[in-house]
Amino acid sequence: MESKPIVSIENLTKVIKGRTIIDDLSFDVYRGEVFGFLGPNGAGKTTTIRMIVGLMSITSGDIKIDGFSIQKNFEKAVQSVGAIVENPEMYKFLSGYQNLQQYARMVGGVSKAKIDEIVDLVGLSERIDDKVKTYSLGMRQRLGLAQCLLHDPAVLILDEPTNGLDPAGIREIRDYLRFLAKEKNMAVIVSSHILSEMEMMCDRIGIIQNGKLVDVQQVKEFVQGAAETIVEFEVTPLPQAISVLGERYPNLSIQKGERTITLTIAKELIPDIIKAFVHTDLKVYGVRELTKTLEDRFLEITKGDGGKIL
Ligand SMILES: Nc1ncnc2c1ncn2[C@@H]1O[C@H](COP(=O)(O)OP(=O)(O)O)[C@@H](O)[C@H]1O
Ligand SMILES: [Mg+2]
Repeated sequence: MESKPIVSIENLTKVIKGRTIIDDLSFDVYRGEVFGFLGPNGAGKTTTIRMIVGLMSITSGDIKIDGFSIQKNFEKAVQSVGAIVENPEMYKFLSGYQNLQQYARMVGGVSKAKIDEIVDLVGLSERIDDKVKTYSLGMRQRLGLAQCLLHDPAVLILDEPTNGLDPAGIREIRDYLRFLAKEKNMAVIVSSHILSEMEMMCDRIGIIQNGKLVDVQQVKEFVQGAAETIVEFEVTPLPQAISVLGERYPNLSIQKGERTITLTIAKELIPDIIKAFVHTDLKVYGVRELTKTLEDRFLEITKGDGGKIL
């Protein structure tokens, strides 16, 4: 990851009819990463993205893309951006290739070789001469993706790109986006209200709730960063194990399974607990740290007020 951000959101605020829709949002996105913008429906994802691509005016604050302000230097700023915000406009009775040619003429300076390269990149080579009306939703998505990659943007922005796709389509999109970030060194910004998808797709995630940024974290840290961890001990006999724990750690809440006990504890406590078991002649067959999912962490951060996030 480079040290200079390619996208800088600076105290971005949007007020519509006296209502603050986006409230003092600040974050940076870098080349080489997939940044996830996660939040329940109505949180303000689309509004933020519309401001980033210049489809909506900014009430206060600024957005800089490659150092250019979207407000003061719009042309230069959007030059670096490819985006699918609303459904991309496609001519259904033209072939995929003709659609791309059409678009290439509009933006200018796109060679035929470039079109072929992008078609290949999004894996549409075999069907590119078929009419768009024969395409699946996933293929249309890929054609849309091809369209916004034609002018070689440094930043790719997709608003809820997996909406309506089947699992195979979702996986495909995910693989392309990761490829574009890692191999083409692009900055990819995706929004979603689906935690599990973001967990698999993104390097970092910014959580937005009621127009406010609640948290930005690396996905890895996000999942592992909790102060406490969940640990499962397989130990016999269980009743003795529980009484040993009860004596030493009276405040611990113990979840008893059939052959295991599960504790939510600070990691440092694990060796002490093992020692206590061994010293009292209990048999420890296994100790397993259960990783928290993004969802667990999300609920922690938002204190269970996750809204409609799946
Ligand atoms: N043009 C608009 N006029 C009034 N309210 C709007 C407008 N656009 C969005 N909103 C409101 O702003 C909030 C955020 O919407 P949106 O950005 O679409 O959320 P998300 O994309 O996260 O689902 C919602 O409460 C929505 O009703
Ligand atoms: Mg939206």
